[in-house]
Amino acid sequence: MSNNVTLNQFLIQQQRNVLEASGTFTLLLNTLATACKAIAHQVKQGDLIDVLGSAGSENVQGEVQKKLDVITHDIMVHALQSSGQVAGLASEEEEEFLTIPGEYPKGKYLVLFDPLDGSSNIDINMTVGTIFSILRAPESLEPSLGDFLRKGSEQVCAGFVLYGPATMMILTTGQGVNGFTLDQEIGEFMLTHPNIRIPEATQEFAINMSNQRFWEAPIKRYVDECVLGDTGPRGKNFNMRWIASMVAEVYRILTRGGIFMYPYDIRDPSKPGRLRLMYEANPMGFIVEQAGGLCSTGRARILELQPSELHQRVPVILGSKQEVERVESYFQSQG
Ligand code: AHG
Ligand code: MN
Ligand code: MN
Repeated sequence: MSNNVTLNQFLIQQQRNVLEASGTFTLLLNTLATACKAIAHQVKQGDLIDVLGSAGSENVQGEVQKKLDVITHDIMVHALQSSGQVAGLASEEEEEFLTIPGEYPKGKYLVLFDPLDGSSNIDINMTVGTIFSILRAPESLEPSLGDFLRKGSEQVCAGFVLYGPATMMILTTGQGVNGFTLDQEIGEFMLTHPNIRIPEATQEFAINMSNQRFWEAPIKRYVDECVLGDTGPRGKNFNMRWIASMVAEVYRILTRGGIFMYPYDIRDPSKPGRLRLMYEANPMGFIVEQAGGLCSTGRARILELQPSELHQRVPVILGSKQEVERVESYFQSQG
């Protein structure tokens, strides 16, 4: 615990350093924190309030929606649309971006989010989370699709909230990464993990091994070498994890290092990857880079990709610098 600094105090302190700051950004983060506290409450009640299981519907990605995918989407949409701090929003669970209904004022930000990441884990009581990415709205406050399709390097802020044994918010505004833990007694996020740094070296990798036969050669080579351990070219043993919840994997990597990969695979050639660029790869990439790690497709830096669609998929390789660089070098030497 770092002198009992709340998320609010932390943001106000940061805002003092920005001359033209109007306070809207701090209010927006407050809106997001409150929405995520409401989500944490739903997630933690689980079967007591009948929120688990399938909603019986499909989202734009053709994935079966869980009840909590729908509930968390609704909480985020209502909180943001009524906040006065955003001019538009986009969610994993909604095909088109959303504007602000006439009865509410508009604000100068756009928010893109994955309301519930790792939702396949919800029925087995494992960690899930909410991921968000904040961009500047156009001056007119009338956003078009092009205003959302901005490179990850243009994000003003990115964060995620982890609904695990403790509820945590991990945040970057481009000045490093800070972690806050929800104090359930007082209902505030407290700064518990200031200036998070990812160790550059690691002996832990995360990938869904069941897709091995569909990977490209550089990924096969990298994982084969890890698995060979001290009998192979790496000369050291590796450990493996796969939680199937990106928020939990990224948090582990922020805590003790590691590499996470959801690479391109040939299962469905129409899909360039599993994860979505705008509300998964970009915000996580911003956070990981701000903590000293790297985030890549294997061939290019994620934050420099020019998006073409709201729900675009992308290969993701992120984590400890030395390991991501190694994977990139395997792609380069393959040509
Ligand atoms: P979502 O629940 O928002 O659809 O995202 C789940 C993602 C990500 O969190 C995780 O890393 C990956 O899907 C797991 O995929 P597999 O089930 O293919 O392992
Ligand atoms: Mn997700
Ligand atoms: Mn999701």
